[in-house]
Amino acid sequence: MAKVAILGATGAVGTVMRQVLAERQFPVDELVCLASARSAGTRVEFAGDEVEVREVSAEAFRGVDVALFSAGASRSREWAPAAIAAGAVVVDNSSAFRMQDDVPLVVSEVNPEAVRGHRGLIANPNCSTMQLMPVVKPLLDAVGLVHLTVATYQAVSGTGQSAIDGLKAEVAEVMAGGNGAARVYPHPIAFNVLPVAGSFSGEDGYTDEELKLVHESRKILSLPDLRVSVMCVRVPVVSGHSEAVWVETRERLSPDDARALLREAPGVVVVDDPANGRYPTALQAAGTDDVYVGRIRRDLGVPNGLAFWVVSDNLRKGAATNAIQIAELLL
Ligand SMILES: NC(=O)c1ccc[n+]([C@@H]2O[C@H](COP(=O)([O-])OP(=O)(O)OC[C@H]3O[C@@H](n4cnc5c(N)ncnc54)[C@H](OP(=O)(O)O)[C@@H]3O)[C@@H](O)[C@H]2O)c1
Repeated sequence: MAKVAILGATGAVGTVMRQVLAERQFPVDELVCLASARSAGTRVEFAGDEVEVREVSAEAFRGVDVALFSAGASRSREWAPAAIAAGAVVVDNSSAFRMQDDVPLVVSEVNPEAVRGHRGLIANPNCSTMQLMPVVKPLLDAVGLVHLTVATYQAVSGTGQSAIDGLKAEVAEVMAGGNGAARVYPHPIAFNVLPVAGSFSGEDGYTDEELKLVHESRKILSLPDLRVSVMCVRVPVVSGHSEAVWVETRERLSPDDARALLREAPGVVVVDDPANGRYPTALQAAGTDDVYVGRIRRDLGVPNGLAFWVVSDNLRKGAATNAIQIAELLL
C-alpha cells in the first residue's frame, strides 16, 4: 500500500487522477489532496469518500510515497524539491522538467524501462505528444521513421477547468441570442477554430505546445534528429484531442500491414472502416483510457508514407492515466 499525494487535486487533471486511482484500484492507503489556499478546507471525492483539501506545504509531503503533480510548471519547480526531500517519488504532469537529461519522460507502453533511471522525479509527457507515441512506436520499430507531420485539433480541457467553463458559457450565451464574447482565449472558442494552442515562445513563430511535440517525441523515441512538422489548433471540444498524422517511413509499409501491427500495439485500438462510418472521434474517446487510430491510408505525397487519424482523451491517457501507469511501474 502507498501514501499518495496529488498536488492540483481540485483541477481538471487532478479530478481525473482521483477517479483513475480508484478505478484502477491503485493500492492507496491514504490520499493527500493538495491545492492552493483558495481550495484549502473544501472536500473532494475519492473512492466513495470525501477528502479534505489542504494547502500545499513541505510538511504535507511527510510520509508520502508517490506525489502526482498537476498544478502547473511553476508549482512543480517550487514543490518538487520538498516532496523529493521528504522521500516521495514525484510524477510530474507539467512541462517543468520534461527535457532535463536526468529526468525520464515516460509513456507507459512505449518506454517503461526509462523509469529505472529516475532520481526521485519522472515526467509525464504533454497530452498531444502522449497519444501519438503508442501509435508511432510500433511503426518505428517495424520500418523506421524519417519524418513525422502532425496537425492537432485540441480540446479546451487541455487548458484546464476554466476553459471548459468558458466554452460552456460562450455556447450558452450564443444560444440565448448573445454574442458569446471570448472568455478564455483571445477570440471566442464557441463555434470557432483557433490556429493557436499554447503560448508563443519566441522561436520562429511556434507555440510552446508545438515545440513540446517536437522535442518530447524525439526524447521518448530516442531519435534526437527526427524531423517533426507540427501545427497545434484549438477546437470547441470539451475532452479528446484529435490529430491528423503523416509519417514518412524508411521502408514501405502497406496500410493493411500497419493496421495489423497497430491491432497488436498495447493501449491502441484500431477503428478503421470509414466507408461504414467507423473512425475514431473525440466524443467516443472521451472518458476512456485508450488511444484510437483510424483512416489509415497511403500518403500519396511521398514514396514511403502513411496518413492516419489519432484520438484520445487528453485528461485521461494524455495526463492522469499515464501518470498513474507510471506510478504502477514504480510499485
Ligand atoms: N488538461 C490537460 O489536458 C493537461 C494535459 C497534460 C498536462 N497538463 C498539465 O497539468 C497541469 C494542471 O492542468 P489542469 O488542466 O488540471 O489545470 P486546472 O484545471 O487549472 O487546475 C490547476 C490545479 O492547480 C492548483 N493550483 C493552482 N495554483 C496553485 C498554487 N499556487 N499552489 C497549489 N496549487 C495550485 C489548483 O488549485 P486551486 O483549486 O486551489 O486553484 C488546481 O487544483 C498543468 O501543468 C498542465 O499543463 C494538463
